Amino acid sequence: MKNKIIVTGGCGYIGSHTVIELIENNYTVIILDDLSNSTEETLHRIEKITNVKPSFINIDLKDELKTKKVFKEHKDAKAVINFAAHKAVGESVQKPLMYYKNNLYSLINTLTALTENTINGFIFSSSATVYGTPKSLPITEQSKTQRPFSPYGNTKKIAEEIIDDLIKSETNLSAISLRYFNPIGAHESGLIGELPSGIPNNLMPYITQTAVGIREKLMVYGNDYPTKDGTPIRDYIHVVDLAKAHVLAVERIIKNQQEKPFEIFNLGTGNGFSVLDIINSFEEVTNSKLNYEITDRRAGDVPKLFASIDLVKNKLGWKPSKSLNEMIKSSWDWERKLNDKS
Ligand code: UD1
Repeated sequence: MKNKIIVTGGCGYIGSHTVIELIENNYTVIILDDLSNSTEETLHRIEKITNVKPSFINIDLKDELKTKKVFKEHKDAKAVINFAAHKAVGESVQKPLMYYKNNLYSLINTLTALTENTINGFIFSSSATVYGTPKSLPITEQSKTQRPFSPYGNTKKIAEEIIDDLIKSETNLSAISLRYFNPIGAHESGLIGELPSGIPNNLMPYITQTAVGIREKLMVYGNDYPTKDGTPIRDYIHVVDLAKAHVLAVERIIKNQQEKPFEIFNLGTGNGFSVLDIINSFEEVTNSKLNYEITDRRAGDVPKLFASIDLVKNKLGWKPSKSLNEMIKSSWDWERKLNDKS
């Protein structure tokens, strides 16, 4: 019998890549998604890649009764991976209540349904944003968390606190929170990848959309940071590497290998690259010039972030496999395919 895993937000960017890795590792996947920032077409694409069509339930997890009903029907699931959340930083500043409501109601309903049905494994999709402006680098899981700048970021921090409180009360629940640094890239099939709705907030999709002509020029938000070239440094990680870490986290929970009931791991490469590094690599990989301009800083940006990944390497046996150029090429291939009208 295959182990069943419920994936909330499984039609989204990181969720869909994780569903593929789960299927390829012989798990049965049930996707719960309200398609608010994704499409059902992703399911067909997952089927094309894996030859398996995952079960899909269109559900708004803010609806407590419906959520409980669905989890009851799948109470044989071994674990839940929680990707379902809004994630646009700027929008969350404009509409904080919408973010707190969506990201936290759905989390609370999911955790309630999970504990009621004695599903004992939970994996949470968190973010390096919980570290705020770090005091020292690289960032380890022991580094202090701070209140994130945006309501979006704060939902991640609060979510981890909710899970921690629940674990302390629930002896049977085991959870792993994965703190992503900056996910980029797409599946090598070219069938799934990031589909930003409207104007992208994040650097990589903005660069690729500029290069294909959807955007006129990239604005580089400040070159007066205390870094080697003045532009902020981040730790970019390929989405498929990220997805594979979720499978290892599921295994760790199912095999009872956790050292404590709530574990936290950073997911990055451990390498920091500046915005100009990314632009230079992009130009090298694509053999083209990118139209960009240096402008003012963006509110809330941190000068320098990169992860220590020793813990995840040692405990989860995970390590990233892609170089920066490979990651950038992967994002570029996806963008070109999206815009290939021929
Ligand atoms: C952002 C969010 C973070 C979220 C993550 C993943 C903020 C402050 N942080 O991280 O909470 O978890 O996305 O979605 O928004 N840049 C430009 N021009 C652009 C876009 C970005 O110069 O058009 C620069 C930024 O200033 C930053 C770097 O590129 O230095 C990376 O930006 P981005 O991709 O938005 O990621 P983060 O800001 O690190």
